[in-house]
Amino acid sequence: MAGGRIPDSFIHDLLSRTDIVEVVGSRVELKRAGREYKGLSPFTNEKSASFFVNPAKQMFFDFSSGKNGTAITFLMENDRLSFVEAVEELAKRAGVEVPREGGNEGPRLVLDGPLDALAVAEKFYRSQLKTHQPAIDYLKQRGLDGDTAKLFNIGYAAESWDALTRLFPEADGQRQHALDAGLLIERDGGGAYDRFRNRVMFPIRDTRGRTIGFGGRTLANDPAKYLNSPETPLFHKGRNLFGLFEAKQSTKAELPYLLVVEGYMDVVMLAQHGIRNAVATLGTATTREHLTLLFKSTRRAVFCFDGDRAGRSAAWRALEQALPEVFDDRECRFMFLPDGHDPDSLVQEIGEDAFRALIDAAQPLSDFLLDELLKQVNLASREGRARLPGLARPHLEKLRDGALRTLIVDRLLTLTRMQRDDLEAALAAAGKAAPAAADSGGERGRRIETPGSKPIRIALQLLLEEPALAARAEHLGQIAMLNQPGLDILLDTIEFFSENPEAHAAQWLEMNRGSARGAALARISAMPLPITGDLGAEFTDCLGLLRKRAVRERQQALLDLARDRELAPAEQAELMALMTEQTG
Ligand code: UTP
Ligand code: MN
Repeated sequence: MAGGRIPDSFIHDLLSRTDIVEVVGSRVELKRAGREYKGLSPFTNEKSASFFVNPAKQMFFDFSSGKNGTAITFLMENDRLSFVEAVEELAKRAGVEVPREGGNEGPRLVLDGPLDALAVAEKFYRSQLKTHQPAIDYLKQRGLDGDTAKLFNIGYAAESWDALTRLFPEADGQRQHALDAGLLIERDGGGAYDRFRNRVMFPIRDTRGRTIGFGGRTLANDPAKYLNSPETPLFHKGRNLFGLFEAKQSTKAELPYLLVVEGYMDVVMLAQHGIRNAVATLGTATTREHLTLLFKSTRRAVFCFDGDRAGRSAAWRALEQALPEVFDDRECRFMFLPDGHDPDSLVQEIGEDAFRALIDAAQPLSDFLLDELLKQVNLASREGRARLPGLARPHLEKLRDGALRTLIVDRLLTLTRMQRDDLEAALAAAGKAAPAAADSGGERGRRIETPGSKPIRIALQLLLEEPALAARAEHLGQIAMLNQPGLDILLDTIEFFSENPEAHAAQWLEMNRGSARGAALARISAMPLPITGDLGAEFTDCLGLLRKRAVRERQQALLDLARDRELAPAEQAELMALMTEQTG
């Protein structure tokens, strides 16, 4: 339990000192097979080898269980280690110490600095709320009372570029602490300005009650409705939950459950109605680290999502993160809200008791899991029933043996009408009966994050295969204008490999561990390359295609604009340039 977070830079270095072939090879018998190594999967009891280790990518791919990942992932899965333990194991092999951010060896002052700056800011924002009537009116109009605002230390950042900045004079070194805390933003030409302006401020506290960041709700029509503190060494969105400290404060006893909602206002409004044990993720999807954190304070997590498609797929992603974490007496439940409501609006409308009744009626994880799987098969047909174990298998594999697994297997027995032995065999079998996406990439919930467009996906595959291609990428500015899912992943991947030309795929994967993006990258890295020829030419073609699309899209946007109003000279010039570019 020692120390703080392990710095990303250390993971990066550690992986460059590690050879996954050696790590895996000391646990699994490997034979050379072309550019890869091959062996029997340590995760299933397969008879013919479908487990590969790729030294260029520094990754393993197990086609029988659908698992893949880096040397760290391998140790986590194979040796059943936590992430930190796996890193420590690799560090031991490499003969290096694992440093910790905020650990003893770090410069102590620097870390205390930002915390102090955050405390100053919190106090300042609270005092500002008292004197800014429009902000008070806003909260009133939303139904929030003064006691609740006090409970959460809610404040207000005025509509000013320097109200907070002025509290941190450059002269005595205070400014840097506020910059490090993400409270201020540095100007290019020198100086700094307030990050949060004209926003209701929700302090985000760690489990010890220290404010480590803020979420700010705009009072205006700012397109960023909520602005969160940036990731800092103190503040990681994937590792903190808004309201957790307050929930723990609300009782001396162990919390019977924690209700996981999406928004700051949801947590606050529930508390105002007596439901003091709600927490919110900080504008991110639920991560496995969130689950770990939750289960330190309670045995039951109830996830509360919108009833619409987006809500259900977010719930599904939460379920996937939860599977490895629900063991022993831990439990997850899922509740879905009526259309058009969030917990904030619903609890105001129906009150505490009715809301609690909905919480009590939340679906157990097993029900939600099976419901979703059953949507994909027709139980009336023999084929449909036969497909079910294959669909369930990747999820069951993430579960530890225990009551929940037994329960699900029993339900599958009834649903499939199979014999227990046959079902267990199908659940353990190499993925032949299972659908192609054995790594659980096939569900709706995950699709959203998968880079949707073919050239984006192929370009990513090529980069993971041959990171040096990143140096060839051109016209990224134009491509970046394209509005397509997954493009951000591609651009960031290009940036990472341009800056780290020696890096292999595993290092980039580790930088994204625990996020939907990391999952998408892992999935893509396991896909077979659709081409065998000149990877460089193919990569250039993919980017060329994207650039063409970007140009076309921008051109169309300008033409549409021109129908409504006269284009500004700069816009006209841009349009002309784009026209000649595409024909040229
Ligand atoms: P919602 O858009 O559902 O807003 O975002 P909300 O919580 O109902 O907010 P109100 O009621 O309009 O004030 C849910 C959560 O997603 C994150 C925030 O954490 C927010 O509470 N979010 C949303 C952002 O981080 N940025 C945004 O621009 C919007
Ligand atoms: Mn809302």
